[in-house]
Amino acid sequence: MKRKQVAVIVGTRPEAIKMAPVIRQLSASRALAPLVVSTSQHRQLVGQVFRQFGVRIDHDLRTMRAGQTLWDLSGRLVTRLGRFLARERAAAVLVQGDTSSALFGALAGFYHRIPVGHVEAGLRTGDRYAPFPEEMNRTLIGSLAVWHFAPTATAVKSLLREGVRRGAIHLTGNTVVDALRWMAPRCDDREVTALMGAEWKDRRLVLVTCHRRESFGEPMKRVARALVKLAREEADIRVLFPIHPNPEVRKAMVPLLGRSPNIVLCDPLDYGRFLACLRASYLVLSDSGGVQEEATALGKPVLVLRDRTERPEGVTAGALKLVGTETDRIVREGRRLLGSRAAYERMSRASSVFGKGAAAKRIVRILERDLTGKRAGGR
Ligand code: UD1
Ligand code: UDP
Repeated sequence: MKRKQVAVIVGTRPEAIKMAPVIRQLSASRALAPLVVSTSQHRQLVGQVFRQFGVRIDHDLRTMRAGQTLWDLSGRLVTRLGRFLARERAAAVLVQGDTSSALFGALAGFYHRIPVGHVEAGLRTGDRYAPFPEEMNRTLIGSLAVWHFAPTATAVKSLLREGVRRGAIHLTGNTVVDALRWMAPRCDDREVTALMGAEWKDRRLVLVTCHRRESFGEPMKRVARALVKLAREEADIRVLFPIHPNPEVRKAMVPLLGRSPNIVLCDPLDYGRFLACLRASYLVLSDSGGVQEEATALGKPVLVLRDRTERPEGVTAGALKLVGTETDRIVREGRRLLGSRAAYERMSRASSVFGKGAAAKRIVRILERDLTGKRAGGR
């Protein structure tokens, strides 16, 4: 029997990490085969991830431009994805999360009447501008998809509330946990030493990431000022901050942080090295979605540099605390966790609220069943 092709559309680093386990699972399927399409919304970062997971890109649509605007990028994405799907035979289109590549991948699939599956469906903050534009992107993808692969029970409820048919929603867990489980045995502490020098083991490592569009400009500068203050006050910490390649992030962060002796700035780390640093860290400050999930799975406390999260499960599990982007608040919460063992321990219990590592397998089983037997259902 010829295997049916599933077009897996990936544009950015988090999509590559969270789709890699699905692609590997599709490669192992007897009924289905992955057709891996990189829009290259993130040209360097996607390649970096796939090399580590041993995933081959079948088609590269080369959409990235330095400092791209949402509207220019969107135009290139829908045109190139639409043309690509006109040429290739795909039985289904899979998109992940809430990026521009995911939204326009889903729309291009719809234009070709190809059924669309949404991995990590149902995440919501309830605020259309936060995160921006991701909350709107994932809501729109929810209208386009026929399979909704929801990571948690909360996500299932959000989809039901929006009128998605129960039979089209599948509770799978988040594939980020699959990725984490696959990568964890392949990375080790020597990566951290290579980056930070051997003396990092005598200090407490504070890992930072920050890249959200709604924080460009002043909010990012406030975060930077908080980091400078904490690094100056707390002599026994060492801050590691891999800076996102977005020029807006560099513009806000580097001038304020570049001269602080206790803060190490570096280029984005490959996934293995980043996980080694996350495992070695004492505390995390981040506005990233994926990092919130990984840190929760590993039991690393995160001060979330946002006012809202679409991952409330991590807050309930105790690993995440929303602290926003005000300098004083971040410093206060940082001091508290660095100073109080009891406060720290309350936030450092590993939790499986985001899944146990079997999400990709579940997703592919559902696709196999629906694409080779019964027809894919509608909304
Ligand atoms: C995008 C996603 C966001 C996700 C983030 C992950 C949208 C709307 N936003 O952020 O949901 O959290 O990616 O990191 O899709 N750049 C490079 N090389 C790379 C990647 C980026 O140079 O490999 C630079 C380019 O100048 C590019 C800029 O970063 O123009 C911004 O990339 P972009 O995909 O537009 O980032 P965001 O939209 O902020
Ligand atoms: N990550 C990485 N290297 C880094 C920073 C982050 O590999 O230098 C990984 C991290 O482990 C997580 C993902 O990138 O899985 C998160 O991506 P990002 O923060 O860019 O996007 P978001 O998750 O916020 O959409």
